[in-house]
Amino acid sequence: MEDTTHLLRLKLVPVQGVPMLKLTADNWPEIEATQARPDDLIIATYPKAGTTWVSEIVDMIYNSGDAEKCKRDAIHVRLAFIEATFPGLPTGVQQLNAMKPPRLGKTHLPAQLLPQSFWDKKSKIIYVARNAKDSAVSYFHFYKMAKVHPEPGTWPEYLEKFMAGDVAFGSWYDHVKGWWQKTRDHPILYVFYEDMKEDPRREVLKLLRFLEREVSDEVLEKILHYTSFQEMKSNPMANYRTIPDELMDQNVSPFMRKGITGDWKNMFTVAQNEKFDEDYVRKMSGSTLQFRTEL
Ligand code: A3P
Repeated sequence: MEDTTHLLRLKLVPVQGVPMLKLTADNWPEIEATQARPDDLIIATYPKAGTTWVSEIVDMIYNSGDAEKCKRDAIHVRLAFIEATFPGLPTGVQQLNAMKPPRLGKTHLPAQLLPQSFWDKKSKIIYVARNAKDSAVSYFHFYKMAKVHPEPGTWPEYLEKFMAGDVAFGSWYDHVKGWWQKTRDHPILYVFYEDMKEDPRREVLKLLRFLEREVSDEVLEKILHYTSFQEMKSNPMANYRTIPDELMDQNVSPFMRKGITGDWKNMFTVAQNEKFDEDYVRKMSGSTLQFRTEL
C-alpha cells in the first residue's frame, strides 16, 4: 500500500456547512451524483450508533443466516460506504456501482446531504440511532484509533467539540432529528441501539418485516448468535482487523470496544453531565425523539 501518512489527521472541511473528512469533501461531486436503485438498502447512522452491528444482521438476512457466506469479505466491502474516499482504494460510489443488486450500502451523511437519487428512487433506508452520551464516548475512542479523523484532543476538549457539532459528519443532534423528519415521507425504519441491546430478537424481527423477508426460527437463531457482540468481536470479517494499524490502531482502542449502553457514566464527570443535559434540552426542544441512556 502506498504511503498515506500525509493524508491522516487532516482538518475537517465543510460540505454545505457540515464538517466532513477532507478526502470525502474533495470527492463531493462524485458522491452527490451517486445513482441509486429502488432495490438498494442503505443503513444510515451518525457514527458509532451500531452501523456495523446492523450491517452484519442485514447481510446475514440477505444470506439466509449462512455465516460462511457472510465471511466472504470484510464488512466494509460487503456494504459500500457511500461517501468513503481513500487513495489507492475504490471509492464508496465505485464500490456501490460494482455491486450486483440487491445492493447494500451504508452512510453517515446527514439526511440533507444524502445523494438525491436515493430519495427519488425511494430506496429503503434503515436509520440506527444511539443516545448522545454513549455516541460521544464511542466516537471519542474511535477518533483516537481511526486516524482519518483529526486529533481528538483530551476527553473534555472532545466533548465540547461533540456538543458544538465540530466533529466529522457534524452535529449528532441535527443528524438524529433530520433523519427522524424524513421518516414522514420516505421508507425509513428508524431503530435504536438501546432497543437492540434490550431485545435483539424483537429488533431483528422488525428489520425482517421492513425488508419483507421471512426466515425460519433456526435461521433467526443463527442470525442472533453470529451478530452478538462476542461473536462479532472475534470475527475478523466484522471487527475491522483487516484494516492496517496505520489507519486504525486497535491497540489504542478496539473497534468492537465495549458494546454496552451506559458506558458514558465511566467518562462524564458530574459537571460535564449537568452541562451536557442542559445543552441537550435546548438542542432537542421541539423534537418528539426520546433516547434512553441506560437500560
Ligand atoms: P462502543 O465503542 O461503545 O463499544 P459503528 O459500527 O456505528 O461504528 O458503531 C460501533 C459501536 O457499536 C461500538 O460501540 C461497538 O462496540 C458497537 N457494536 C458493534 N457490534 C455490536 C454488537 N454486535 N452488539 C453491541 N454493540 C456492538
